[in-house]
Amino acid sequence: MSVPDLRAELLDASVPIPRRFRALFALRSIGGDASVDALLDGLKDPSALFRHEVAFALGQMQATRAVPKLKEVLEDASDHSMVRHEAAEALGAIASDECAEALRTASEDECQVVRETALGSAKEKLSAGAAGAEGGDAANGDSPYMSVDPVPAASLSISMETLTRVLLDESADMWDRYGAMFALRNRGPAPDVAATLGAVLASSSSALLKHEVCYVLGQIQEKGAAARDALRQTLMDASEHPMVRHEAAEAIGSIAAADTESLLATYRADADRIVAESCEVALDIMASEMSGEFVPLQKAVEA
Ligand SMILES: [Fe+2]
Ligand SMILES: [Fe+2]
Repeated sequence: MSVPDLRAELLDASVPIPRRFRALFALRSIGGDASVDALLDGLKDPSALFRHEVAFALGQMQATRAVPKLKEVLEDASDHSMVRHEAAEALGAIASDECAEALRTASEDECQVVRETALGSAKEKLSAGAAGAEGGDAANGDSPYMSVDPVPAASLSISMETLTRVLLDESADMWDRYGAMFALRNRGPAPDVAATLGAVLASSSSALLKHEVCYVLGQIQEKGAAARDALRQTLMDASEHPMVRHEAAEAIGSIAAADTESLLATYRADADRIVAESCEVALDIMASEMSGEFVPLQKAVEA
């Protein structure tokens, strides 16, 4: 499909949301100014889920031309916290001086999720120095998932035991916990890491950390029971932040275990539109994974 065709799919509100997400993923993989401009128009969509995914994609593409619009989203206190959070993360991933300034301002925002995200991203930018500014310290292991992580993985000199302890420690610095998680993800073994992440999901009170834990579980795609049970409970918990339930639904879709399909089908009717639409998208991801038709992003990027 050409960029103009993908743009038309992306911006047509009458197209089912999973198909619009496929167009979004494709534009992200293709890249270039025309793709970025199509995505920027997607930031006007009425669906918060859609807008947050567009912001995420723009950050992962490190699209400098998206900075003014991402700043507008971040500064709009009337927008959903999940969308503003993702705009902050995207600005952190792009990491120009203009982004750092916007993040410093947002680090005093009234909304906790926005404030914590901006605080971490701004701190990261300030301390990036020689290693971080050029896209991470390769010795620590860049993400094997082609993702631009919000903080670099913790150093290889830190033992797996220490990393696990930091990740589970509710009193530890949030960004140290993030760095520990990415280091564990990169080093594996996947079943052990997934079990640890499942434990964090079941015990932490931080929505920010839990949404990233779910995201990483979706990257690892480990089918072990501990993580899957925690993801299930997270999706089913109506009191949980919709940002976390959304990431849990999509992780369940990526893991693609047949016995979780009915759960996603049930929550497709959730009262929260973000959760309901996430389950629509997750069912599509699951169907693609099961049929083997899903083209992982890293392959699309390399193609
Ligand atoms: Fe996020
Ligand atoms: Fe998301």
